Amino acid sequence: MAFRASLRLAASAARPAGARLYSQAVAVPTSSAASVRVTSAQIQRDAALPNPDPAEDSASAALVRDHAPFMVATYARPPPVFVNGEGSYLWDIENRKYLDLTAGIAVNSLGHCNPELSKLIAQQAKTLMHASNLYYNPWTGALSKLLIEKTVASGGMHDATAVFVCNSGSEANEAGIKFARKVGKVLDPSGAKHEIVCFGNAFHGRTMGALSATPNPKYQAPFSPMVPGFKVGVYNDIESLKELITPETCSVIVEPIQGEGGVQVADEEFLVELAARCRKVGALLHYDEIQCGLSRTGTFWAHSHLPKEAHPDILTTAKALGNGFPIGATIVNAHVADKIKVGDHGTTFGGNPLACRLAHHIVSRLAEPELQEAVLEKEGLFRDGFAMLQSQYPNLIRQVRGRGLILGLQLTEDPARIIKAARERGVLIITAGTNTLRFVPSLLISKEEIEEGLRVLGEAIEATRE
Ligand SMILES: Cc1ncc(COP(=O)(O)O)c(C=O)c1O
Repeated sequence: MAFRASLRLAASAARPAGARLYSQAVAVPTSSAASVRVTSAQIQRDAALPNPDPAEDSASAALVRDHAPFMVATYARPPPVFVNGEGSYLWDIENRKYLDLTAGIAVNSLGHCNPELSKLIAQQAKTLMHASNLYYNPWTGALSKLLIEKTVASGGMHDATAVFVCNSGSEANEAGIKFARKVGKVLDPSGAKHEIVCFGNAFHGRTMGALSATPNPKYQAPFSPMVPGFKVGVYNDIESLKELITPETCSVIVEPIQGEGGVQVADEEFLVELAARCRKVGALLHYDEIQCGLSRTGTFWAHSHLPKEAHPDILTTAKALGNGFPIGATIVNAHVADKIKVGDHGTTFGGNPLACRLAHHIVSRLAEPELQEAVLEKEGLFRDGFAMLQSQYPNLIRQVRGRGLILGLQLTEDPARIIKAARERGVLIITAGTNTLRFVPSLLISKEEIEEGLRVLGEAIEATRE
């Protein structure tokens, strides 16, 4: 007991000035079963690791035992229970501190609990949170206008015209898929122009339309049959485009960088040829930048550097748009917007003034050139560290992929042990694709934090070599 208590004190001593202890700031519902018995084996293990996963007899485990039976088991979670966040760090209920290289899966681009965002939420929550899409409010339109202005100014989607605001990435893609079907019907009232092309290893979401464009048997098989009319192509395969995309195609949905699929980057030539084929058959091009967009690659959109001919007709975003507050958006050009009529699509919560005011602030900050330049410098630090690790462990690290602060290390083995070893040394990392470690930290991560992350990653790899 005494040893545990001193561990906790050490963890809280490491907190930055002004950081709160969870017990002072958060009411955590705990069960009465939180009494702690410590075995000598646990004491030895805890002594060897800065952040050992909470043990079976910890307060964390007691809380999980109390709650888990009431939660649909859609996720397999590790033992820590997070209650506090600040910048690039998270704290669990036992006051262990973690450097978060996941940023809530590429969501918290401005870090956890960014003070300006917290202030804005509080202000708007006292002003107006929701009045429905039946009425105008000042923020849905302001966000839409800003997204169009920043998109065009960034050199991306030059003809971006209008925005549909919703609540998540899946919903943004769902709107994109519906809009494409509608455009196909307007262009060919026979209904023949309804096919949607997607690519292997894509991830576009879990709702039935977005899932139908996510050709991973793990996600699709339990819920088949999928929505009809979806075709799957090979990512980066220019040769197959002619056969794949035909006059029956109403749209092609593609991630310029596949996130969940393993941080796979589309070749510029592939996207240029893809766009050319779409134009040729009158199909829309839909870029899903839900994970890779909003300056994560060092440009406002991952496609911003592409020539105009390769710009999309539909562009979807979510994740970092709300920095943790749920929001998504579907950006379209006039060719699409003109064909969508009142009543074609809708949402109760989407576009509410609270989410939109927040996103308006976030978009203006993420569009700053200084932030984007810093992302590229930080990419350099990660890449230098990865190169060193690759030279140390050539049989483990096969490839480094990605751009900006969406980076992947392709390993030759299941990364689960490395992920756990890193977590138990105070660093959170997630996986992607097959045996890929994915790094999507806050875009405000500091040089020192990157160095800390790389050092701990090295230690975690070393600890897992037999
Ligand atoms: C590229 C991409 N599209 C769509 C989605 C789905 O977004 P959401 O989970 O917000 O529905 C994700 C989520 O990981 C994503 O990475």
